[in-house]
This record gives sequence, structure tokens and C-alpha cells, in this order.
Amino acid sequence: MCGIVGFIGRHDAAPILLDGLSKLEYRGYDSSGIAVRDENGNFEVVKAKGKLKELFEKTDSGKAIHGTTGIGHTRWATHGEPSETNAHPHISGTDVDDSGVVGVHNGIIENYVEMKDKLLRKGYKFYSETDTEVMVKLVDYYYKKYKCPPGEAIAKAMVRVRGSYALVLMFKDHPDEIWAARKDSPMIIGICDGETYVASDVPAILKYTKHVYYIGNMEIACLKEGTAEFYNIDSEPLEKELVEITWDAEAAEKGGYEHFMMKEIHEQPRAITDTLNSIIKGEGKDRRIDFSCVGISDEDIKKISQIYIAACGSAWHVGMAAQYVIEDLARIPVRVELASEFRYRNPILDKNGLVIVISQSGETADSLAALREAKDKGLKTLAIVNVVGSSIAREADYVVYTVSGPEIAVATTKAYSTQLIVTYLIAIHFAAVRGHLDADKYAYYISELYTLPEKIEKIFETKDKLQWFAAKFVNVHDVFFIGRSIDYAVSLEGSLKMKEISYVHSEAYAAGELKHGTISMIEDGTLVIGVLTQPSLYEKTMSNMVECKARGAYLAAVTSYGHYNIEDTSNFVTYIPNVDAHFMGSLSVIPLQLLGYYLSLSRGLDVDKPRNLAKSVTVE
Ligand code: M6R
Repeated sequence: MCGIVGFIGRHDAAPILLDGLSKLEYRGYDSSGIAVRDENGNFEVVKAKGKLKELFEKTDSGKAIHGTTGIGHTRWATHGEPSETNAHPHISGTDVDDSGVVGVHNGIIENYVEMKDKLLRKGYKFYSETDTEVMVKLVDYYYKKYKCPPGEAIAKAMVRVRGSYALVLMFKDHPDEIWAARKDSPMIIGICDGETYVASDVPAILKYTKHVYYIGNMEIACLKEGTAEFYNIDSEPLEKELVEITWDAEAAEKGGYEHFMMKEIHEQPRAITDTLNSIIKGEGKDRRIDFSCVGISDEDIKKISQIYIAACGSAWHVGMAAQYVIEDLARIPVRVELASEFRYRNPILDKNGLVIVISQSGETADSLAALREAKDKGLKTLAIVNVVGSSIAREADYVVYTVSGPEIAVATTKAYSTQLIVTYLIAIHFAAVRGHLDADKYAYYISELYTLPEKIEKIFETKDKLQWFAAKFVNVHDVFFIGRSIDYAVSLEGSLKMKEISYVHSEAYAAGELKHGTISMIEDGTLVIGVLTQPSLYEKTMSNMVECKARGAYLAAVTSYGHYNIEDTSNFVTYIPNVDAHFMGSLSVIPLQLLGYYLSLSRGLDVDKPRNLAKSVTVE
């Protein structure tokens, strides 16, 4: 979604704002802009449609604009087409010189039409189609009407609007301040060497500082050089602790790879090891899963009657795979829910159930709402999250962090893989606590998990073959992924990877379902990719592939070492190492990620920033 950066300090703000915005490009955007206060107290606003490089060019990389206080924004259009007029920052007047307030905003103001009507009646004139312009003018209206401090005017506007927002504003009358407020949309404030930063996401300011404050929901902050003050909606001061971020700036750079996605694919062995080590304590046969810092007790685990997993996109696919693993090992019924459906269908939930919400960003609007729905219904919630301090992490009863580091490419890879790992650990731990695992089996599963990083490295050796295959199918129109159980869950992920970055239509089917309708679409040359890693289901999926071949399909297969007879049937095979069947999804997904990557590359597309998409979906 949109990105926000703000700066107040002793250096010129514009180059810092542009640098920060460039770190947020992965969030998706269609226009951008900055506003800087010059030494005479006037605002200078520059905006550009399209890529950020347009804004760089218009401002000579920020060097053409002087002033040490400023705010910037990359926009992903929600209200009004992508255009220079609709780009942020927005102003309270019709002209920058007659404007007392200038602001940027992420999120959506749901009742902006109603607010706009009110402001039109008060004589305000509007130049854009955005909800942001309405919000900026609403703050200006209260600021003038009550002649109050900026924080109180912002609070009055917050009480009147519905929706989600991260809002950053400058007031002409308050030259040494930037004001920020948020509701359900992420924002952090960083401090370093007498200078202060605000951003919607950590990578934007990581180069400058690792010391940040998290602004809570419905809170307001006043940034000054090197300090920040916080207020609640009643304008009462709040105490906040400065938190140190453990990610380093290098982790958010490409590190020699052509794309973030390829870098992140290669980081999976390390991310899996780090995630395992963050939860498993002890050595050798004494290794134990330790959820003590999560706070969920054995008594709590024994009481769980049902698990509900709510998530979106790839995180939902993790839930689909986890369902098989948790049910099989821990013998607890699991229901997997799309968060966007869960939140609105008034679900009937067992009071002793546990709701697991999976999210890389920890800010996905639907997943956050699903979590709140579960809490409202009195259930305990456990979040599996990558971004420390994100909204979902803060609101859940229990949190397990994945240790992936920053994930920049829109298409998730390492976050998906580490989320899977956490679900395996939950399955093993819950199984042990509930008496379904003996010590040998427990030790066996943990040692199997530790073999995954090395086995993923082995799969990387097949990259050339996958690149060749992607080049052969560069003009493919339709692809079907099929598999059963965990292989079906991985097929869903393989299909999404292909769609989102290669723009190739694909579908994932539970292999046994194909003949109930979809097989009518198979014709000469249709590409069908089978995932066959579950020993007990291998023959079954194989039969479904043969049914496709009989109708002219070109068959490709992902299977494990030893199943060499597949070459009698399948036109293309990529082999992966063996691991315990519960964990095969962690290996079979790797060739599918690579396939999506190479197909996107062969088609000359923007791998890291696919069209119409954003990394963190903070609107419904
Ligand atoms: O941040 P989250 O994990 O909550 O995001 C959920 C989905 O938007 C995300 O997994 C999306 O499907 C991925 N970009 C797919 O690669």
C-alpha cells in the first residue's frame, strides 16, 4: 500500500525523504510527492505520477529543495485515479501559499464523502478526488475553529472519521514540529543524533536509526528535533519506551542479487535455521521446543478443543498446509479460514478454541480484523508474525515471531517458509503436551526439521533446469497445479506465485477434484504441474496426471528422489530431497517459487513489484 516518510532535524529533509521513499517502493505505488518547509516557513510541495524516479528527476534527487522539516509519500490509489493531483501531500487550502496544514495519509477514510459535504458547506474547496485531502482539510477546520494546539485539532478529526489511517501533518504556525496519528495502519518514529524520523515501515529509516517508538492505535505524536511526545485521544501525555530494532540496513538491500525475490529465496535456509533456533533450546537428543516466552502453558494447550487458522494469501496457504500437519500430529481439529470471510460471517466458534492468525507484515487489515473478531468472541489468539511490534503482534494473546528479517519482494518466499516452520513446531509441541508423541518420535521430528536448510540448498542446484523450463513456457496461458493433502496446499502457493509475478493464469486443484469439472479445460499442450511428495498419495496423484495426459496435457512434476519411474509419464521432472512427509511442503515449494521467479524474468516483468499489488495490504 502507500508509504510515508517524515523528517525533522538539521539536514535538508528532501534527500532523506526520497531515500526513505525508495526503500518503501516495494509496498506498491503509482505516484509520489514530498512537502518541505523552507527557511521562511513556507511549504514547497512537489509531486509526480508514476515511478519514484520521476520525483527524483523533478527535485534533482532532493538537492533542489531546501529545508530541514518535511514529509513524503508514495501512493497506491484507492480514491481517485493515479495522477499528480491526487498524489500526496495534500494541502488545506487551494494553493500551497494559502494552506496552513499539509499532510500525507495511508489507509482509507470510510466516511470521507460525508465529511467532504460538511466541509463544502463550510466553504472549503476541493481539487482532488482523495479522502486524504478531506482529512487534511478537516484537521484544518478544527484547528481554526477551536484555535487549539495541532494535537487537539487532530484528535477532533479522528473522532469524526471512520476507517484506518496513518496520518502525518505539518502546520505552518508550528515550524519546529511534525504531527502524526494512527488508527489500524502502521507507523513508527525513529530517533537518532538530535533528529527524528517517522515512517510507515521500518526499512525507510533503518539506514538512519534502529531506535524507534511504536505509536499505538488512536494515539497522536508530536515530533521535534531529536524527540517525540505522545498523546492519547483526550490529549493526555503518554509515556513510551524506545525500542531497538534488530534488523540491519543491509538486510533490506539486494546484496548482489538482481531482485529481492531471488535474494529472499536464497535466504530461506538461514531464515529457517534462525527461526528453529529461536524456539528450540538444548543440544542433540535434548533439544526441546520452548514456547515459554510465548506464554502459552501446557494447561492452556491441553484445553484446546479446536484450532481456527485465519490468514490471507500465502499466509492462508501456510494455514492450509498446517491443517494437515497439526491434525495428524496433535489430533486437534483445525479449520482454515480466509480472514476476509471470517471477519464478516459471524462465525460460530468454540469457546475453548484457539485462533491462530498468520501474517508476515502483522498489519494486513483483514487478518487484524479476524483477530479482533476472535477476541471479541472471547477466544484466545496466537499470532505468527514477522514484523516485531506490528499491530497483530501487539493485539494477540500469544505471539510467535518468524525470524526472516525484512521481506521486501511483494511475492513472499522466506516469510512463507518460516511461517510453515512455526506451524510444524506448534504441531509437534501440542502433540507432545497432549500425549500423542513419544520421546523418540519427538527427537526424530526435530532432527528432521534441522535437515531442511541443507536440503533447500540442494534444490538450488536445480535452478538452471527450472530456468530452462520457464523459458520454454514463456508464452504459456493457463497452468494447472495439482496435488493432494500437503501437496495441494503447496500447489495453491505455486499457483499464486505464478499469477502474482508472471501474470499467467493458473489454478491449483486438489488432484482428485479435477475430474469434477475442470478437466474439461485440459487440451493439447495444457501445462499441468503435479506435486507428488506424499508417499501414501503418490499413486493417486499419478493417476490424475495420467488422466490429464490422456487429454493432451504436457506434464511437469515435482517429486522426491527415488520416484524415477515418473519419467515414463511426465514430460519434465524436478527432484527434491526426502524429509519426513509432514515437512515435504518446505522443500516442494522451492522449485515452484523459482519457477514463478524465472517465468516473470523471462517475460520481462517487474519481479519485485508486480502490477496492482502491494506488500502489505492495510485496506480491506
Ligand atoms: O503480511 P501478510 O502475511 O498478512 O500478507 C498476506 C498476503 O497479502 C500475502 O501473503 C500475499 O498473498 C503475498 N504477497 C503473496 O506472495
